[in-house]
Amino acid sequence: MEHTTERSRTTVHAAQHDPRRDPVRDRALWDRAARVLDANWTGASTVPSRTLYPHQWSWDSAFVAIGLRHVSPLRAQLELETLLSAQWGDGRIPHIVFNPAIPLDAYFPSPDFWRSSTAGRAAGAPTAVQTSGIVQPPVHALAAWLVHRADPALSRSRGFLPRVYPGLAAWHRYLLHRRDLGGAGLASVVHPWEQGMDNSPCWDGPLSRVAPTAARSFRRADLEHGTADDRPTDLDYGRYVRLATDYRDGRYADGDGEFAVEDPSFNALLAASEHALARIACELGAVGTARHARAERLTAALVDRLWDPAAGMFFCRDLRDGGDAGDGGGGKGGLVEEYAVSGLVPLILPTLPRDVVTALVRTARGPHFGLGGRVRLAPSYDLLGSAFDPHRYWRGPAWFNTNWLLERGFRLHGEHAQAARLRAAMLDVAGASDFAEYVDPYTGAGCGARGFGWTAALTLDLLGTGEASSR
Ligand code: SER
Repeated sequence: MEHTTERSRTTVHAAQHDPRRDPVRDRALWDRAARVLDANWTGASTVPSRTLYPHQWSWDSAFVAIGLRHVSPLRAQLELETLLSAQWGDGRIPHIVFNPAIPLDAYFPSPDFWRSSTAGRAAGAPTAVQTSGIVQPPVHALAAWLVHRADPALSRSRGFLPRVYPGLAAWHRYLLHRRDLGGAGLASVVHPWEQGMDNSPCWDGPLSRVAPTAARSFRRADLEHGTADDRPTDLDYGRYVRLATDYRDGRYADGDGEFAVEDPSFNALLAASEHALARIACELGAVGTARHARAERLTAALVDRLWDPAAGMFFCRDLRDGGDAGDGGGGKGGLVEEYAVSGLVPLILPTLPRDVVTALVRTARGPHFGLGGRVRLAPSYDLLGSAFDPHRYWRGPAWFNTNWLLERGFRLHGEHAQAARLRAAMLDVAGASDFAEYVDPYTGAGCGARGFGWTAALTLDLLGTGEASSR
């Protein structure tokens, strides 16, 4: 394989920092994870899975770059540069960049559904590459900063940060301006695929108002690669297709779609990435103060709009719910009172008020998420919720990207014992499940694809950085 683990001999820190871990086993885990990323590498980017997701996905690539930086900083840089080369003129980074060599029927919805180069023309879609027209969570500036830090000399010699900074700034501008549909300083998502947790029970209410497209009018490719019980239902898909069709037919203009939600995880990642963009700006000789201030305003808006002190939890806000919904921009909407892992992700923010941090840690360790002992990894949804299902995609299974974010959040706020427990469990479960896409939160049994990109990448990051590091 051309891209072997050139740095692997020097960067497995985990065993050195944690006397409970076996260095020989960690070395083997490292090599297996690096092989997954080698196998999923296409030459310019990494597929999440050769079977289920055979193109480039936006937030997957960001998490992949965060792990890849430990084995090949060059590939990590290319991963992000390839994604940014498909950015639209209005600043959006599309959630899928299609590989033209893959047959149309290998994944649904395919490029002929999205029609980016024609339907997206007014929004500035590229003509050289086909993409979807929706977005995914903005993890990219955070990833770019971490990739730079892994090998600053290589980054400087290739002009990596000057190359990606303008696109990342335009991306954040798009989200902060064109997507502030509630008028309160937060970005909204207009499709469940944008938030990334496709069939979370948080969307059951907002989606119930969407008339589904008939299931017989499209063919799902995902069911050829996985168990139907582990995937979203046909009814979910009917609604996903309806929303995407309407957005496309409206030429991907933002404003008055049927689905508009302010989500805590999406906005927390935007704020964390805005802090990263501030650091990038400083590295490039500019002053980052204004960006840090913007990230702090986003954090304050998150608390103001989405924090429920009585519940000790961040909830989504459904802008199309309630009396003043659809009022053209100032809508308050209503909170969706579902305990989903999305509501814990703001823990990654450095200026979250102390009382919010304390309550959020208590919620994570309490009966809804069980990190105090009932589960191995944080579930994607409330263990006590009536919709909880330990195997069905985002309705309960544990995912490695959200657990990686929580581990980071615990460490940031001084919860080192909790962070160390979670980190050890992630490494054990990732290896035992053959880098599964998601797992049963109680047993760690794998679901979905195996050899999944971000599971392998974030394993490398945990092994490669060491728990004492500030990362
Ligand atoms: N996660 C979605 C899928 O399952 C799309 O981004 O295809």
